[in-house]
Amino acid sequence: MELITSVAEMALATSNWQAVGLKVGLVPTMGYLHEGHISLAKRARAENDKVVASIFVNPLQFGPKEDFSRYPRDLERDLNLLEGAGVDAVFHPTPQEMYPEGFNASIEVLGITDVLEGAHRPGHFKGVTTVVAKLFNIVSPCKAYFGQKDAQQVAVIKKMVRDLNFPLEIVICPTLREADGLAMSSRNIYLSVDERKAATVLYRALTAAQTAFENGNRQGDALRKLMNEVISSETLAKPDYVSVANPEDLREYAGLIPTGKGVLLSMAVRFGSTRLIDNFQL
Ligand code: PAF
Repeated sequence: MELITSVAEMALATSNWQAVGLKVGLVPTMGYLHEGHISLAKRARAENDKVVASIFVNPLQFGPKEDFSRYPRDLERDLNLLEGAGVDAVFHPTPQEMYPEGFNASIEVLGITDVLEGAHRPGHFKGVTTVVAKLFNIVSPCKAYFGQKDAQQVAVIKKMVRDLNFPLEIVICPTLREADGLAMSSRNIYLSVDERKAATVLYRALTAAQTAFENGNRQGDALRKLMNEVISSETLAKPDYVSVANPEDLREYAGLIPTGKGVLLSMAVRFGSTRLIDNFQL
């Protein structure tokens, strides 16, 4: 497995592969990998001739009061895991390499970025789409792999690809969970023992709403109320938002959810200084 830190070298490697007809899959990550990331790499391995994983903690997508500098990093461990998953090259640029002196461009998807995560993290999605567009241009993948856990990120990236005609397919992979239901996340490491126990409340709230929906409760407000009630049973849990929305345009369902429409149950909940997100798509 190659470790590539320069944009020019990465672009050259992929253009050499493509010149001989090889298809490249890209797994963008911020590192500190867990089984969820590895499942993306394995899926990419099964579906492409060459697999590139990027490890880049993107400063543009962190707000001034967020955890950019303390975001967990462990390059050596990540490289071992990616090699084990059959990745061919890891692209690991520095912030200066991605955003050199004078860098002054951005990509922004409007509309679906000012609700949910976007409402609580101003500028976050502009940072995500800018770095993901750069990665797509540098690596030129045929397919790029993302986790369903970041449901709004998935919707925003799909929209960027559609609106700007990026010539690639976005592949969405299921959320991987711990045995007690907690969605795998690099941020779980921040949780204290008590917070870790309390954090299963996201899964419990989502499961309660899913069960109610399957039993015929099709009222957006009632499903939101139910999830809020479950969350408020945990004193350590402080919700940022709880949502029952259309998965495409992310608009909240208020009254009756129309038959045949998809439903995205999602939430962001704080435990001390740690903020976790999770969702179910029904
Ligand atoms: O989901 C992530 O880890 C990041 O938002 C991504 C897609 C790698 C862009 O920095």
